[in-house]
Amino acid sequence: MKNILITGGAGFIGSHLVKWMLKKHDYKIVNLDSLTYAGNLQNLTEIENHPNYHFVKGDIRDEALLNEVFKAHDITDVIHLAAESHVDRSIENPLEFINTNVLGTVSLLNVCRKFWSENYADHLFYHVSTDEVYGSLDDGGFFKESTAYDPRSPYSASKASSDHFVRAYHHTYGIPIKISNCSNNYGSFQFPEKLIPLMINNIKHKKPLPVYGKGENIRDWLWVVDHCSAIDVIFHEAAVGETYNIGGINEWKNIDLVHKLCEIMDEKLGREKGESAKLITYVTDRAGHDLRYAIDPTKVETELNWKPSITFEEGLEKTVEWYLENEEWMRNVTSGNYMAYYDKMYKDR
Ligand code: NAD
Ligand code: DAU
Repeated sequence: MKNILITGGAGFIGSHLVKWMLKKHDYKIVNLDSLTYAGNLQNLTEIENHPNYHFVKGDIRDEALLNEVFKAHDITDVIHLAAESHVDRSIENPLEFINTNVLGTVSLLNVCRKFWSENYADHLFYHVSTDEVYGSLDDGGFFKESTAYDPRSPYSASKASSDHFVRAYHHTYGIPIKISNCSNNYGSFQFPEKLIPLMINNIKHKKPLPVYGKGENIRDWLWVVDHCSAIDVIFHEAAVGETYNIGGINEWKNIDLVHKLCEIMDEKLGREKGESAKLITYVTDRAGHDLRYAIDPTKVETELNWKPSITFEEGLEKTVEWYLENEEWMRNVTSGNYMAYYDKMYKDR
């Protein structure tokens, strides 16, 4: 029996991972989340009464609390997702990203070391990271596990720093670790500050669709459930100390993706073809906007036999349908502070 601490389990990817692990395995899952604006217990209603599931509201920087949780639940493994995750917010407030993403990760590592150092053999610290640590592919090519780090936003710099600390604790103290760096995720329960749910919500309400710069930037999209299946296989089958890049070879220019969403939504909402695309509005670019991300997933595909389970077309359809069917979820997360955030970020762009 494993007792796995999943941090950030009330967020977008974390909530999918909590549900995935409870469905696929007979482990105790302890979800530690401080419920920032991005954390939402409504993402977890379908498993909240599962006998193997425990929620703890708390901050990964609170070592006293971490000690209690490790003791009370005899934590054997950690899958660490808790983070500040939005690049635009990191440009507004870098310190918050250093605090949570760097100091929070180090606090967790300290507690793992304290509880596990007598016998590291049956333990694992799995760190969920991002492809953004590798920088921007302005001259072609793909991110491989051997690509040198070149983070260029406060968010990616904080994630790169956390990756370095995880590796440093492995080499210095022997903590068993694994790291994966994934491309852009999309799917249900994603907070609508991120491109896809923001556009779906704005299309629905006939609001302007704010495309940064010329919309030429390229992202490599993966369905969130396929990210969870990759984490599962790496968690169970990869060798300790290894790093895997996760992605589905699925690059899209932002403007093409927004057009695609408009097309799908026109059809689903019974609008005339081309109607939603009229909402597209080019706005001031993101500062330091990385041009292109693209993952080479050869290592995880060949060594661990992982592949995405669905195509992007299928995933986008499912995703749009989910947001259209879950208006209440969207209403709840876009009430209150969201509007203040939206006005601040988009008013003068
Ligand atoms: P998210 O913003 O949706 O969720 C983050 C969660 O962490 C929230 O539930 C929040 O309440 C919690 N949290 C934040 N600070 C905390 C703290 N100090 N203590 C405890 N909990 C805290 O993020 P996401 O998109 O689900 O990303 C999860 C992880 O995956 C992050 O580490 C991110 O860097 C990484 N990642 C994300 C993507 C993506 O496309 N979203 C891609 C690759 C990697
Ligand atoms: O690559 C993985 C990363 O993907 C994760 O590590 C991050 O946590 C996650 O937020 C995401 O970062 P991006 O900056 O790529 O995602 P975002 O959804 O914010 O933006 C995607 C692209 O769309 C990016 O080029 C900026 C652009 N964009 C975004 C928003 C919110 C717009 O043009 N308009 C918008 O309103």
